[in-house]
Amino acid sequence: MTESVSPARSVSGAISVPGDKSISHRYAMLTSIAEGESRILNYSTGEDCRSTLACMSQLGIAHEFADKDGRRELIVHGKGTHGLQASKNALDAGNSGSTIRMLSGILAAQPFTTTIFGDESLSRRPMRRIMAPLAEMGAHIEATNDQYAPLTIHGRALTAITYEPPVASAQVKSCVLLAGLYANGETAVIEPVRTRDHTEIALRELGADISTERRTVRIRGGAPLHGKPLIVPGDISSAAFFLVAALLAKEANLVIANVGLNPTRTALLDFLKSVGASIKILSVESANGELIGNLQVRNSRIRGGTISGALTAALIDEIPVLSVLGAASQDGFVVKDAAELRVKETDRIATVAENMKRMGIQVEVKQDGLEIPGKQTFHAAELDSFGDHRIAMAFAVAALASDGPCLIHNAEAASVSYPEFYRTLREIAQ
Ligand code: S3P
Repeated sequence: MTESVSPARSVSGAISVPGDKSISHRYAMLTSIAEGESRILNYSTGEDCRSTLACMSQLGIAHEFADKDGRRELIVHGKGTHGLQASKNALDAGNSGSTIRMLSGILAAQPFTTTIFGDESLSRRPMRRIMAPLAEMGAHIEATNDQYAPLTIHGRALTAITYEPPVASAQVKSCVLLAGLYANGETAVIEPVRTRDHTEIALRELGADISTERRTVRIRGGAPLHGKPLIVPGDISSAAFFLVAALLAKEANLVIANVGLNPTRTALLDFLKSVGASIKILSVESANGELIGNLQVRNSRIRGGTISGALTAALIDEIPVLSVLGAASQDGFVVKDAAELRVKETDRIATVAENMKRMGIQVEVKQDGLEIPGKQTFHAAELDSFGDHRIAMAFAVAALASDGPCLIHNAEAASVSYPEFYRTLREIAQ
């Protein structure tokens, strides 16, 4: 599908964004292995989270959607930590790295064998990062060239380990913690830098024996989980596209309601404020251990900035759209220490640079980053998502700020996390 996106002078209104993708995956997996029913409000509408639910169904966990006062509620009929059944067919994780990497931690502990595969993009993404710790715990995993999906996971009784992942990855941490839920003894993960902690919060909320001290998370295996009502906050990584759209506009006053404000995700807001963005948090409340609030953003003059080290890890999903902002900023943005961008749904250093080039934007590509000079003008162009949801949405935002209508080819990729994206964009952009 090709979308045409026209320039906009103003970005205004009040919107909400779909449920957080990271939290939705975790709730689907954990409520499946919890005892009893869980009712989940605002589960992500994205295809990735649908892949997780489909995998859980194949493992014998029923779910359905119901209407709760006009809102969509997901009901998961959990069967407890030992309630999963072997799947007749291989599981399809689609485009979703979170599904394959996190679910592998659970599958490694089951008394059966499971094969899990994904689309072409997922089949190119590194899996050794989860295979190594799971093997150390006693699981046996076969993979293409010993590193790529499909993975065939022969579940075993697992042994607790202390693991220090070489890369900052919440998916790897979560995979080990989920395996640790089943292991004999105490499993610890010592992170190089702290990553999003939704798994820890959800596990604690459902009854696991888990604790965090600075960069170390410990889980003691064997505790049962109990289903309960859960609310998924709006996805701050989806809100990021509208925040940047508003910051770039000539006129903007946009309210984004019910956005997740977990401190391991809000580096985005801190960074944007540090470069001059007018963003206000209008209210904050807490639900199931996660923070949720309303944000207000106005058009702003953005200075230059550098994203490096732990900040890069904290902003990794937002870098495509922040790169767009950088080109329009006063002094440009420099992105360093971002080698992980090369192994996302696409090589995001390459796909950001390619679309920038098509729009006449100068950018210097580094092995592990980008240097984007400021005060540049976006020119109308034919753009491509290259099958990557965040590239589609980042460049739809760039198109709003450009000097003429742009075409975005393969625009449907946005549905991986945000099927309603273009509709919402049209509602707020004039
Ligand atoms: C995610 C972790 C990050 C992020 C991804 C979602 C998660 O991946 O990029 O979109 O839900 O844990 P890594 O763990 O590979 O850094």
